[in-house]
Amino acid sequence: MTGRNDEGRDGEASFREMWRDLAPLGRHPASGGYRRYAWTGADADCRAWFREQAEARGLVHETDRNGNQWAWLGDPGEGDAVVTGSHLDSVPDGGAFDGPLGIVSAFAALDELRRRGAEFTKPLGIVNFGDEEGARFGLACVGSRLTAGRLTREEAHRLVDAGGTTLPRAMEAAGYDPDAIGPDPERLARIGAFVELHVEQGRSLDRTGDPVGIASAIWPHGRWRYDFRGEANHAGTTLLADRRDPMLPYAETVLAARREAGLAGALATFGKVAVEPNGVNAVPSLVRGWLDSRAADAGTLDAVTAAVERAAREYAGRAGVALDVVRESFTPVVEFQHALRDELARILGAARAEDRGRPVPVLATGAGHDAGILSASVPTAMLFVRNPTGVSHSPAEHATEQDRAAGVAALADVLEGLACR
Ligand code: GLV
Ligand code: MN
Ligand code: MN
Repeated sequence: MTGRNDEGRDGEASFREMWRDLAPLGRHPASGGYRRYAWTGADADCRAWFREQAEARGLVHETDRNGNQWAWLGDPGEGDAVVTGSHLDSVPDGGAFDGPLGIVSAFAALDELRRRGAEFTKPLGIVNFGDEEGARFGLACVGSRLTAGRLTREEAHRLVDAGGTTLPRAMEAAGYDPDAIGPDPERLARIGAFVELHVEQGRSLDRTGDPVGIASAIWPHGRWRYDFRGEANHAGTTLLADRRDPMLPYAETVLAARREAGLAGALATFGKVAVEPNGVNAVPSLVRGWLDSRAADAGTLDAVTAAVERAAREYAGRAGVALDVVRESFTPVVEFQHALRDELARILGAARAEDRGRPVPVLATGAGHDAGILSASVPTAMLFVRNPTGVSHSPAEHATEQDRAAGVAALADVLEGLACR
């Protein structure tokens, strides 16, 4: 099987062209951030872009029953396929790189391998996993979780967005069959290795001065919904002593989360809140806040989230407010497969031996990824590309053109090492 194409694309030019075409899709004009949420118009535009890229390269495009898109060079039915890719959806007002960098780099790496005249001995796939961020329905990595059997069809059917639209209705409106979703072990069994390239969501590589690193692990993490229920009342006439104001224990809980995480060396964030009735002159009846918490190990994470809940119950009790806490999602620690990780280190170490002879850094991350979900079913690895701001889930997320090119070269080396032997 040959990877050659007729066009002999120039790597950097093709990267720039893809980046330019993707840039306006789902970008909010006022914030400059991306709002590419699952099963919306912006999501459909990104999916159309992916399909065009696949077809322009003569790849066979398919969307699986969980809404993930695949572009194939060679027949995946042969098995032992090497797959790379990431996601195109975003958090609210997200940056341009989280997800798209992995997909654009995947197509660019294929272009680079074709320019090298690489002979593929295994099928190569590029994937766009659906709904990685969970921005609309609250659960991250829906496409990969369904495929890997980590989310059942029944559970997925119960997901609802802020406007009351269920996931199945949203899928239907986008032209997909929500009854077809579910585990896809046959598809996963065809994959011999999955490698996701991602912008680093921190500054480790910036500190060590390396454009590219290899992931060692993903911290365990989860999302908890805190419902503080009090009593709505007039802000101008209700005496302070007569109020059952859920905003007070909520505010104290935000501070407790920060304190407990700080003491444990963990992370805890209330980044999303909904208030009812949400009137400036009304004591609220409900404050619903979402806690995102992560730690290097499960014991620490359990201790932090238990301490935050204990504190919240005490504050709620004092304020005469009821509290419900629901764990909406949890992802255990992921330790990426050592054999594949070592193979990546060997390939990249050999490629940069002439440069500096220094080993490629290996780092853990607190961010969740489809690669983490797949890692229980398929040998999986990740490459990180330096982010000079360290900022992510924000328009300030960045990777320089030089580092993007280094990422593409590293991914091309890895794919060549894995799929062209
Ligand atoms: C996804 O980016 C997450 O870590 O929440
Ligand atoms: Mn993200
Ligand atoms: Mn991501």
